[in-house]
Amino acid sequence: ANIPVLCIDGPTASGKGTVAAAVAARLGYHFLDSGAMYRVTALAATRAGLAIAPEQEAAIAALARTLPVRFLDGRVLIGEDDVTDAIRTEEAGMNASRVSALPAVRDALVALQHGFRRLPGLVADGRDMGTVIFPGADLKVYLTASAQTRAERRHQQLLAKGIPAKIADLRADLEARDLRDSSRPVAPLKPAQDALVLDNSTATIEQSVAQVVSWWQGKR
Ligand code: C5P
Repeated sequence: ANIPVLCIDGPTASGKGTVAAAVAARLGYHFLDSGAMYRVTALAATRAGLAIAPEQEAAIAALARTLPVRFLDGRVLIGEDDVTDAIRTEEAGMNASRVSALPAVRDALVALQHGFRRLPGLVADGRDMGTVIFPGADLKVYLTASAQTRAERRHQQLLAKGIPAKIADLRADLEARDLRDSSRPVAPLKPAQDALVLDNSTATIEQSVAQVVSWWQGKR
């Protein structure tokens, strides 16, 4: 059976997580937050005392393959341990980016990601959903925004949590992460050749959601 897949890829803090989750809710589809898988893997590796480095690639990949990770109603669990908040820190994001540059770790997570493709359909959020994981997807969107806009959004998110930060520092961090994500040899961050690019620097979340849903309806 052909189970529809809609991919939303893009750089960090582009709003794709929020947009992808909203599109999934609108369509009544499943939602895959692939970044969370890299975040969970990095956290588990750190907790197991493994350095996130090429020397530990095989060990981290083995860990990723057997990790009892579960996604339940927006919560992320390792076994019974709720790690939803622990994987959302800036440090966890940086570690996720480093772990995601290891090819064996990426391989280890492929089957887990494919498992999210279930009826009635899937919205997949990540960096390589359209280029590597679901190359035959029915719709591919590359959602992006200027570095300044993304840094300001991240700043707002942190402020809301009472975490102080400087916009300039956040911008430098996300540019460093973008550079690592887009220059790595395996599954680099880049729009699929058949992706529709949406720059939402001046759009609201609702406008971006409406655009993606309208592209989707146009395809059906
Ligand atoms: O999207 P999120 O910020 O949660 O992703 C964390 C990190 O995981 C990214 O910086 C990226 O390096 C990596 N990632 C990836 N491939 C994906 C999703 C995330 O390499 N499909």
